[in-house]
Amino acid sequence: MCGGEGFLFTVSDGKASAIACACTASCPDCHGVGRVYAKDEREYEIMRGCTCGADPRRLSLLTGLRLPPKFLDRTLGLYRAYSPSQQRALLRAKRFVDEFVPGASGQRALVFCGPPGTGKTHLLSAMLRELTAVKAVRGRYEEFFLLLSDIRDGFSRGLSSREWLEPLRQVDVLAIDEIGKGGKNREFEQGILDEIVSVRYNAGRPTLLATNYPPAGATWKFAVEGEVAESLEQRVGARIYSRIHEMCDVVEVVGHDQRKELHDVRAARDGAADGPARGTRPARG
Ligand SMILES: Nc1ncnc2c1ncn2[C@@H]1O[C@H](COP(=O)(O)OP(=O)(O)OP(=O)(O)O)[C@@H](O)[C@H]1O
Ligand SMILES: [Mg+2]
Ligand SMILES: [Zn+2]
Ligand SMILES: [Zn+2]
Repeated sequence: MCGGEGFLFTVSDGKASAIACACTASCPDCHGVGRVYAKDEREYEIMRGCTCGADPRRLSLLTGLRLPPKFLDRTLGLYRAYSPSQQRALLRAKRFVDEFVPGASGQRALVFCGPPGTGKTHLLSAMLRELTAVKAVRGRYEEFFLLLSDIRDGFSRGLSSREWLEPLRQVDVLAIDEIGKGGKNREFEQGILDEIVSVRYNAGRPTLLATNYPPAGATWKFAVEGEVAESLEQRVGARIYSRIHEMCDVVEVVGHDQRKELHDVRAARDGAADGPARGTRPARG
């Protein structure tokens, strides 16, 4: 069921929790308990997490990632390089995961920039999942827009900015998806992003970012319907943009919109099943 990872996610109330797979019950080392006796370097007996997937600490770290439910099964292994740019993005994502050392500071982070449906959320999610599953990294996924509303809620309940920033500061790897999205209150949004990026930077901990807005020099554009196209720098402001550049390697993720591709495949399949009576499908633009 688990494909050998030893854990699964269950979703309730839109929140994902990691649980041990039933197969860990037959683990010869821990019999499904998830903890094993080991000796430390001074020959003292200690308890350690088992590698079979039942380790309660690792399960709670996986739950703590707060991955979006739709992306729980997205792994780097399932990411396809449909374009050279996606190939580069995948390699860079893998390299980050391979090279990441929990606790070490000053590791360069990544900002994925690309139009909709090229797999940026897939990459962020898969990186966090793998960092935690393999290296027991403490990570956190946040969608910027939802984070903003959580923060607004926090403020209205009397939380100080120190208090809501603390959990974001503490995690080894923070991923913030959809930066630059928003609009109504740009000053507030930029201020929040600035605080998060600064606190992470000062703590020497990497922040992975994703955005639909192009970095300087990109050959593509992005605009929300009814608005003019803007660059990432325009969206987040010059100060944060320069900070991001200092902290992150810019990784463009350009390719076909996989949501649209999937939709078209489904439409073609359904159309074929219904036969010609239903008329012709509109051709892809
Ligand atoms: N290169 C890819 N390989 C495999 N699956 C992909 C790839 N690109 C996208 N997908 C799948 O297509 C869907 C949309 O991808 P995703 O949400 O990650 O795109 P995105 O770049 O984050 O889009 P947006 O900018 O709109 O947020 C997801 O189900 C994702 O798993
Ligand atoms: Mg996305
Ligand atoms: Zn299993
Ligand atoms: Zn075990």
